[in-house]
Amino acid sequence: MRRFIPILLALWLGLPGLVVAQAGLWDRQVDSILSLMTLTEKIGQMNLLTSDWVQTGPSLRPSYLADIQAGRVGAIFNAHTADYTCELQRLAVEETRLGIPLLFGFDVVHGYKTIFPMPIGEAASWDLAAIEGAARISTREAAAAGLHWTFAPMVDIARDPRWGRMAEGAGEDTWYGNEVARARVRGIQGQDLADPQTLLACVKHYAAYGAAQAGRDYHTTDLSEQTLREVYLPPFQAAIEAGAATIMTAFNDLNGIPATGNRFLLDQILRQEWGFDGFVVTDYSSIPEMIQHGIVGDTAAAAALALDAGVDMDMQASAYYYHLARLVAEGKIDEGQIDAAVRRILRAKYALGLFDDPYRYCQPNQEAAVWLSDAHRAAARDIARKSLVLLRNQGATLPLRSPDRILLTGPLADSQRDMLGSWSGAGEAESCVTLKTGLETRFGAEKVRFVPGCGIEDGDDQGIAAAVRAARRAEVIVAAVGESAAMSGEAASRSELDLPGVQLELLQALKATGKPLVVVVFSGRALALPWLAEQADALVMAWFPGTEGGHALAEVLSGDYGPSGRLPVTVPRSVGQVPIFYNPKATGRPMDPQQKYTSKYLDVPNTPLFPFGYGLTYGEMVYEGLQAEPSVFDPSQTVTVSVTVTNRGPQAGTETVQLYVRDLVGSLTRPVRELKGFQQVTLAPGESRVVTFALRAEDLAFLRRDGTYGAEPGHFDLFIGPHAESAEHVRVKLVP
Ligand code: BGC
Repeated sequence: MRRFIPILLALWLGLPGLVVAQAGLWDRQVDSILSLMTLTEKIGQMNLLTSDWVQTGPSLRPSYLADIQAGRVGAIFNAHTADYTCELQRLAVEETRLGIPLLFGFDVVHGYKTIFPMPIGEAASWDLAAIEGAARISTREAAAAGLHWTFAPMVDIARDPRWGRMAEGAGEDTWYGNEVARARVRGIQGQDLADPQTLLACVKHYAAYGAAQAGRDYHTTDLSEQTLREVYLPPFQAAIEAGAATIMTAFNDLNGIPATGNRFLLDQILRQEWGFDGFVVTDYSSIPEMIQHGIVGDTAAAAALALDAGVDMDMQASAYYYHLARLVAEGKIDEGQIDAAVRRILRAKYALGLFDDPYRYCQPNQEAAVWLSDAHRAAARDIARKSLVLLRNQGATLPLRSPDRILLTGPLADSQRDMLGSWSGAGEAESCVTLKTGLETRFGAEKVRFVPGCGIEDGDDQGIAAAVRAARRAEVIVAAVGESAAMSGEAASRSELDLPGVQLELLQALKATGKPLVVVVFSGRALALPWLAEQADALVMAWFPGTEGGHALAEVLSGDYGPSGRLPVTVPRSVGQVPIFYNPKATGRPMDPQQKYTSKYLDVPNTPLFPFGYGLTYGEMVYEGLQAEPSVFDPSQTVTVSVTVTNRGPQAGTETVQLYVRDLVGSLTRPVRELKGFQQVTLAPGESRVVTFALRAEDLAFLRRDGTYGAEPGHFDLFIGPHAESAEHVRVKLVP
């Protein structure tokens, strides 16, 4: 390899304060570099290409390697491990004319080697510090693998469980989604991007991707501006305010203009209203997909539309690579637009310190030290147990005291691969603890009999009889059912929300034995399981709990850890209720079972199977004495809302106390409830705690009819309770 002293280095030597992480200085340096770059090199910075993964490890197509050497690639994704990324970095730094370092990206969505619960499961913990901690650890492990950039957090609000990507976000609520988005960005980017244990965050998929019609992935989104701004956009803004350095466009068409060519989203809102100064990357090949959307006729026009809308970097489509130079020559785009995009990309490289030392993430010896370390596994176990949601517990079936004969059955009981969930980074199935291992470790292998019963999706019911025979000899049945990891995530929409294959038949046969039936459900979405909600003696939602999932489940089933998770999504009774979420608008004809012409179904109640925020503990929590002071307040005042929560049960429990508001009359109709806060309190048997929230007029703000943002005077109902359907409330009045 030719030794090469980049021209840039010579330039920097003349600049004082080389390592000063200061925007003004970066700007001058970036301008100096830009002045040296050819148009081809500039366009190269806007080109993001994927590495492939072959059996022996990562690999890059020969033409891509040649492009790196020609300065025609700015970033690579899916290439990881310190050795490999550094080999590629050497090509960029030592073999190109200007030696501009590459940026390495990867989807580190819920872990790199140590895999945390699927993001929806992390969100079910309602523990923001644990969520931030999981992102921090994932980041550390990924940075040790030579990565600079993660395509996370995914902040799409998901109100439709048919959409498989519900698994990747924080659920259906905007307020909570904002909190989780901030926590994840803090975890990924830390205090200072110059710290080589941080990554650039990439908040995605901008915007409204989760509102795909019919819950079908990549499908069209058509939303009012009010819903877009009030429901879908805030988590993006929250992530950007928390410092997210990059943002990814979505695949969908939004109100007639695909997100990747949508100037209203990318320029007006993102840059002008929110002041975002990081760079915008497309999703995979979404520039040429605008041809199929029918907004442009060819790739050149797609590239021009994307650039003009505000897209800085093209992921894997090579649309910029092939077309931008000609578009400039033809006068169809202005080179100034390219300069602006390249400036933003180079600034991100500066922020990471790559111009100081392009090899600062090349520390192969770090990998072994941090990947799957004991501390990381412990953190994964901690958030996994917090992510588990106890939905039903008849006759205190759980915790299992000291059972001598547990029948463990179901297709998810011992599937290491399925513990990981989708988008599991570089996680390996072999490192995962299944429920079988977890129960055997906790209770002793001799006490756990495992009979699979059936597969996940196949229709073969031959194994059910053996499971039933074993159940008759058991004290308690633990059945692990649900979806495979591949059934949620990208391109994994479903039209049914039931248990696939013959799993329900297995459960029904087990129930008929009369033995206590504990059901653990694995999935990346809310499933409509009405039979289970009535017939399971205990029901636990496990999501996809990650590397340490089996130990976490054993802790909760045994009572070593009291369940504290809460649903971040509404669980429907049937697919026909979808989309169902806790905060719709009211109707002019609210449901009245006695009145035909009211808003309801003939065949199913309006209510969900389990509401948003729901989850049981091993305690028995009672809420009393809800009050708000003062009950009339003006914008300078704070209302103190409080309630006393008492644990009347014989076991300790961690309760997630939730505050919701309803704005009774607005210049635009308002949701029937809106989450505004929550607190987790751990109460010993008999213990009481006064839980207090401070509410100000700004917490009641919304996008008003006149286009301004703020609260409107009038009455508000304040609810504090264990979930979104709790009825107890007090009324307060905001005066001007
Ligand atoms: C997904 C993104 C992901 C990208 C890169 C796309 O198919 O929609 O979420 O970041 O691939 O892997």
